[in-house]
Amino acid sequence: MLFPDYRPRRLRQNENFRRMIKETHLSVNDLIMPFFVVNGKKIKRPISSMPGQFHLSIDQLIEQASLAYSMGIAAIIIFGIPGKKDPFGSQAFAKDGIIQRAIAEIKQKLPELIVITDVCLCEYTDHGHCGIVENQAIDNDATLDLLAKTALSHAKAGADMVAPSDMMDGRVTEIRGALDENNFSHIPIMAYSAKYCSAFYGPFREAANSAPRFGDRQTYQMDPANSREAIREASMDVEEGADIIMVKPALAYLDIISRIRDEFDLPVAAYQVSGEYAMIKAADQLGWLDGQRAMIESLLSIKRAGSDMILTYFAMDAAKAINK
Ligand code: PBG
Repeated sequence: MLFPDYRPRRLRQNENFRRMIKETHLSVNDLIMPFFVVNGKKIKRPISSMPGQFHLSIDQLIEQASLAYSMGIAAIIIFGIPGKKDPFGSQAFAKDGIIQRAIAEIKQKLPELIVITDVCLCEYTDHGHCGIVENQAIDNDATLDLLAKTALSHAKAGADMVAPSDMMDGRVTEIRGALDENNFSHIPIMAYSAKYCSAFYGPFREAANSAPRFGDRQTYQMDPANSREAIREASMDVEEGADIIMVKPALAYLDIISRIRDEFDLPVAAYQVSGEYAMIKAADQLGWLDGQRAMIESLLSIKRAGSDMILTYFAMDAAKAINK
């Protein structure tokens, strides 16, 4: 049907018509809130490259997590900033590491809130890479054991789900095995399956002090030019036992989210990363765009592309907007 018989504007003429034909709905159920946790007490230190985000000591983290939960957010993901770093990232799997202590305390205060942990070594290694470094190269297979240990230590501390973000080959098999052997077969794995080597992680690396000290992450994270490779990565993770497949970043990779949604029947997650958040916040602060609208529009686009859940620093702001 063509104009003048068909007039698409008929169904846009007022808010109630627009509500009736809305195809995508954002819900607080879609949102996962990330937090950065540091040692100490009563610390709520602003992260300059991520306005509105903070380094939180465990007590403050619990306050923020309670607030998130009271808004209807069902899950958080936590990132630890350790007191000391070494070549093996041993604080990543230390029994009394920052993340392990944070998980235990949150679960004590908020037993129902889903606590997801990022399984990676880069925040904990002194060289800043996500794996063990041998002669300036990343030793994939030597790293697997440490990742499994890290995931297991999170599960032991009480984590509800682990999310490997390192992009080493074979990590899901290794982590699934370690969890299953230790009576954690009920703990799901959210795999960062298609994680691109992206400039949009810049603010996170400042927040987590995890920028690589030499080289970059191109030998393990994916080339932004590639799309078929994302399908191969996701297939491997599914075969290896992943429960949720993640695409990261989100906005520059909506086509990948859409393809992955079409190819697999597992739940799909997307990570709207630090740089995506910082871009919108910065432009809002400069008065160059309406940050609130840009936030909702970007989240809607990620959902429309096919993501079932969104990890986003906007989670609490968006929940506020949705609940209004
Ligand atoms: C750890 C990890 C990173 C992010 C999530 N997990 C950093 C990286 O890969 O450099 C980035 C999240 C963000 O930018 O918000 N490997």
